[in-house]
Amino acid sequence: MTPKEQIERLRAQLHRHNHNYYVLNAPEISDQAFDEMMHELQTLEAAYPQYDDPNSPTARVGSDLNKEFTQVAHRYPMLSLGNTYSEGEVSEWYERTRRALGEDFEVCAELKYDGTSISLTYEQGKLVRAVTRGDGEKGDDVTDNVKTIRAIPLVLRGDYLPEFEIRGEILMPWEVFEALNREREAREEPLFANPRNAASGTLKQQNSAIVASRHLDAYLYYLLGETLPSDGHYENLQTAQTWGFKISDRMKKCTTLAEIFEYIAYWDTERKNLPVATDGIVLKVNSLRQQQQLGFTAKSPRWAIAYKFQAERALTRLNRVTYQVGRTGAVTPVANLDPVQLSGTVVKRASLHNADIIEGLDLHIGDSVYVEKGGEIIPKITGVDVEARGMLMGEKVRFITHCPECGSKLIRYEGEAAHYCPNETACPPQIKGKMEHFISRRAMNIDGLGPETIDLFYQQGLIKNVADLYTLSADQIERLERMGKKSAENILQSIRASLDVPFERVLFALGIRFVGETVAKKLAKAFSDIDQLASADMDTLTAVDEIGTKIAQSIRAYFANPQNSALVERLRQIGLQFRRTEADRSGYTDTLAGQTIVISGVFMQHSRDQYKALIEQHGGKNAGSISAKTSFILAGDNMGPAKLEKARKLGIRILDEEQFLAMLPRQTE
Ligand code: IVH
Repeated sequence: MTPKEQIERLRAQLHRHNHNYYVLNAPEISDQAFDEMMHELQTLEAAYPQYDDPNSPTARVGSDLNKEFTQVAHRYPMLSLGNTYSEGEVSEWYERTRRALGEDFEVCAELKYDGTSISLTYEQGKLVRAVTRGDGEKGDDVTDNVKTIRAIPLVLRGDYLPEFEIRGEILMPWEVFEALNREREAREEPLFANPRNAASGTLKQQNSAIVASRHLDAYLYYLLGETLPSDGHYENLQTAQTWGFKISDRMKKCTTLAEIFEYIAYWDTERKNLPVATDGIVLKVNSLRQQQQLGFTAKSPRWAIAYKFQAERALTRLNRVTYQVGRTGAVTPVANLDPVQLSGTVVKRASLHNADIIEGLDLHIGDSVYVEKGGEIIPKITGVDVEARGMLMGEKVRFITHCPECGSKLIRYEGEAAHYCPNETACPPQIKGKMEHFISRRAMNIDGLGPETIDLFYQQGLIKNVADLYTLSADQIERLERMGKKSAENILQSIRASLDVPFERVLFALGIRFVGETVAKKLAKAFSDIDQLASADMDTLTAVDEIGTKIAQSIRAYFANPQNSALVERLRQIGLQFRRTEADRSGYTDTLAGQTIVISGVFMQHSRDQYKALIEQHGGKNAGSISAKTSFILAGDNMGPAKLEKARKLGIRILDEEQFLAMLPRQTE
């Protein structure tokens, strides 16, 4: 076989196995065998770039190229559907349709998936373009990102149409969404409100490797083209399924209104057991000829209607509003409520997000408020029962003007909804939060110290800022409850070890607002030491890749504060790494950016710690346990059976040493 034939054969096989795995849920070969084939193809493609194919299965891995999205006009506008919450209106639509058609008709009932819509164009069996809805007339070209979604075929099989568009919904499964939010919470990053926002946020990522790591799913529900295989919408989708598309098997053709209501009633409860979010059902006249006869209004087709499920909500009393101050000084208002049962849990507190939301609701203490969970994990207040107010209206809720913890006057940055306490260096939750962040695994990685210990040290006046950690003595630690000689020694040992933590992680550890891990890495790459960074002006800062005005301003503000400069100076004298060493510089890449990697088993070529370091050196993240967020597992010999099973269940790839090393650029192997 020539290399070209070999490449083509591997591509065809991988497309087929991919479909078996991600669409049919019925793999024929082991993950290992799949990975081996993928690796073989990667190697061949690297050796024979002349046979490049943008739709190769290897395109699923994602690239790190940053680029702006291009806008593309939709060939057929992307309309929305008429919505209703009332069964009465469904009956009216059905009767209206019957009158307009004057003949029998079938209705295809299907689930309304709650994600972000996408239009895919295929030419000669290949995915050529994926465009978001945008304003309905034109959308963003997100082809590279969509290529990482395994449920979407890059190359079709069977007897497909030469040219067509197919539309559907891109979804983030609940499990992935929850894991992602848990991770964001741990990093104090803003949470995604629901899987829909998470899916659309992910699709708009500039880095397709991040998209690849987020395990999005997709269902297709609308086939468009000049000549379609059948007059039936349902039948066309069944045909599209044979081409490799993931089509919901929950669609049902109905011939009576009673059948439609039965479908609605069934899915109103049953949808809670689905792995993805749904917010209603869609009813479509099945015959395309009849669809054409019915036509469109300005905004939506007359041949379809969406019935939306009522979000579960409860009515309860607002007792008071409290305010939480986070590590970054962001102040979050929290509604304290009379406990109320909602979707299986008791709700006592709900987020009020920010001052604008409170103002918009015109909240008063004692109000009867509606609490909803809907697709959100944190319950929220969605409305006030104004009728219930009566004569004695409680006090109007006004957002606080001063920090509840330290009394400083709050500020609001331009263009931001949140209020902040600016007293970074003396507001207790900010100081404690900063110290907790400083010692965390991804920052200085000081083992043995947790939030409670930090809290104790702080309360006893032993530490006022992170530099004080380095002056702690064994005596002081031992005196604390539940601390022995051994644990004190361990803590001191890991505090000493933190002196070797590289510059980029020290920068991250400082907790400068908006300087997360990725930004810290970029800064450490662009500036050789902290003095250079501290004296950089706005132009120099914003010239760095991915650093915008907001981050640049925050860096300037940090170093302009004499207390911060004094702290940095003290830490420098203690011996922390405030300059890039040659070792940091050589071999640093973004190859694994956005990937979360679990290491498991015993290795031959490098130690486990060396693999950890390699992952970090190439911009990846090493995680301790397998979750839906895991991008792949680096497995040595003797990986535990429980881990294997979990990985298989979540559809996570397993790479061996060779495969992993092959992903990295040559010089570091
Ligand atoms: S059909 C012209 N079917 O709901 C009709 N849409 O407001 C095209 N959606 O933007 C849409 N599940 O994102 C259709 N089974 C389904 C759907 C569905 C979810 C979304 C879609 C669309 C919105 C309608």
